[in-house]
Amino acid sequence: MHQTPRKAVIPAAGLGTRLLPATKAQPKEMLPLVDRPAIQYIIEEAVAAGLDDILVITGKSKWSIEDHFDKSFELEKHLESSGKFEELELVRSISDLAELHYVRQGEPLGLGHAVSMARQHISDESFAVLLADDIMITDHPLLSDMLTLHDRHQCSVLALMEVPHESISLYGCVAYEDTDESGVVRITGITEKPEPDEAPSNYAVIGRYIFTPEIFECLDQIKPGRNGEIQLTDGISLLLTKQPVLGYIIKDGRFDVGTKIDYLTAIVELALAREDLGPQFLGILREILARFDKSPLAPAAPRRLARVVKAFTSKLPHRSRSK
Ligand code: G1P
Repeated sequence: MHQTPRKAVIPAAGLGTRLLPATKAQPKEMLPLVDRPAIQYIIEEAVAAGLDDILVITGKSKWSIEDHFDKSFELEKHLESSGKFEELELVRSISDLAELHYVRQGEPLGLGHAVSMARQHISDESFAVLLADDIMITDHPLLSDMLTLHDRHQCSVLALMEVPHESISLYGCVAYEDTDESGVVRITGITEKPEPDEAPSNYAVIGRYIFTPEIFECLDQIKPGRNGEIQLTDGISLLLTKQPVLGYIIKDGRFDVGTKIDYLTAIVELALAREDLGPQFLGILREILARFDKSPLAPAAPRRLARVVKAFTSKLPHRSRSK
C-alpha cells in the first residue's frame, strides 16, 4: 500500500548550456528570478504541497546550492548586530525551509540516471520529482492535485501540457486515453523528444512527476537511449508495462527558465505579481512599451552600448581581447 508521498527529488546536475555564458561558473539553478534563485521557488513549491524532505541531485560546481540553503552563521551575526532584522528573518527562513539532502551525480549520464541516484534515500515509498528548469507561476496547486490523484489511484502521475505541434520534439511526449475525470488521462505510451510527424500527440511531459517506487527497478533495467543517456522517459515507458500511469493536464503557468526567453518572461511575471515591486515595475514596463510603440525598431540604448563596446574592444591589444 502506497502512502502519501513526503519526499521530493530535484535533479540539479545539468550543465545549463542553454544559458551560457551566465552558467559558465555558476549553476543555472542559482540564477536569480527577481531576488531568489530559481531552485528556491522549486523547493517552496514542494514544501507548499507537503513535500518537506527534499533530495537534490547535484554535480560538479554546484556547491553554491548547498551554501544557499545552509545556515549562514557569519551573515546572520552581521545582520543581527547591524539591526537588519527583516533581512535576518529572510536569511534564516531559507535554511529552515525543508529537510534538505544532497547526493552527487558523478557523471552526467542522463535524467533517468539522476533520478535513480535517489533510490537509497527514497527506499520503498512513492515520491515526487520536480525538474528545476520548470518554474510554475500559477495559483493552480499542481503538485497537490497530482498527489491527490496518486493517493486515489495508487499509481504514478505525470504533469502534461499541450504544446504547439512543431515544439513537441523538445519534450517527452505521450500517447493517452481519456478517463472519466476531466483533465486526467491514462498514459498508454511515451517517447522522448519525437520528431513532430512521429509524435503520438501534442501532449508534452513537463517537469513534475509523482512516481511509485517501482520506477527504480525500471530505471535499472533500461539501456542508454536518446543521446546515449539513461532517459527518465524510457524508465516510464517500461513502468507502463507493469502499472497504470496517469497524466494530469495543465493549461499554462509553466516556464522553462533554462531558456533565455522563458527566463526573462518568468522574471517579468514574478516581479509583476509582487506587492512590493509590481505596481512600480508595471509603470516602468508601460513606459518602455510606449517608447517601443513610437519607434518599433531596436531601441537606441543597446545599439549605442554595442557601438561603445565595439569601439573599446577594437582598441585593446589582440592578446587581451582573446582572453
Ligand atoms: C526533460 C525530459 C523530458 C521533459 C522535459 C520537461 O527534458 O527528458 O521528457 O519533457 O524535461 O521540461 P530536458 O528539458 O531536460 O531536455
